[in-house]
This record gives sequence, structure tokens and C-alpha cells, in this order.
Amino acid sequence: MKKIVLIGLALLAAPAVQAAGVTFKSVQVEFPPDTAAFPDGPNLKVVNQNCLACHSAEMVLDQPLLPRATWAAEVTKMRNVYKAPVSDADAALIVDYLAATHAPQ
Ligand code: HEC
Repeated sequence: MKKIVLIGLALLAAPAVQAAGVTFKSVQVEFPPDTAAFPDGPNLKVVNQNCLACHSAEMVLDQPLLPRATWAAEVTKMRNVYKAPVSDADAALIVDYLAATHAPQ
């Protein structure tokens, strides 16, 4: 109820404020903190070295648990479509990590 009253007042006040040449403060948008880190697992270092250049760990961790073959396809997609500079050796280690930590067991 209080909110509605406040909005009403803001609308009434708006023309006067604009006439005075005052710009409203831009709205501040709060994004969730980007603090997720890859959990411990085999080859964690390789994952951190190769999979954080373009996006956060959350991009990966927000995915459902996926089977190894799907992770392999995902890493291949990062390399072929988005040109992630990941060597064959590192790609295999990364798939091992994802299959161990983020796949249905
Ligand atoms: C060269 C940049 C780059 C690197 C390095 C990279 N990615 Fe991505 N990744 C992307 C882009 C671009 C998207 C798509 C973002 C979007 O759709 O908004 C993406 C999206 C994803 C997604 C979400 C699902 C999807 O297919 O869109 C996953 C999972 C993912 N990346 C995993 C990885 C993993 C694992 C690695 C490490 C091997 C990695 N990425 C490294 C660029 C990169």
C-alpha cells in the first residue's frame, strides 16, 4: 500500500522535475554475485585455466548433470564454435573433470 502511494507521488512530481531539467537517477540493478567457483575435482587446474576466459563458472555449473558424451560435445562446441583455445590433451582432461563432478552418478 505504501508503495502505491509513493509511485503516485512520483508521477505527480515528474513533470515539475523534468521542467527543471533534472534527470532521474538511473535505476540500479543488482545481479546475483558472480562468486561460484568450480568445485574440487580431478584436473581442476586445467578447467580453471581453460574455462573461465569467456564466461563464469556459473555458466557451466548452472547446467543440469549431464552424461560424459554431452560434456565432450559441449567442450568440442566451445572449441569449434566459440574458438576456445583448448588443446586436445586439455579437452580430454576437462571432460574427465566434468564427467566426475557434474554428471549423473
Ligand atoms: C572462447 C570463449 C569461451 C571459452 C574459453 C569457453 N566458453 Fe563456454 N561458452 C562460450 C560462449 C560464447 C557461450 C554461449 C553464451 C551464451 O549463449 O550466452 C558459452 C556457453 C557455455 C555453456 C552453456 C551451454 C551452451 O552451450 O551455451 C557451457 C556449459 C560452457 N560454455 C562450458 C564451457 C567449458 C566447459 C569451457 C572450458 C573448456 C568453456 N565453456 C570455455 C564461450 C567460451
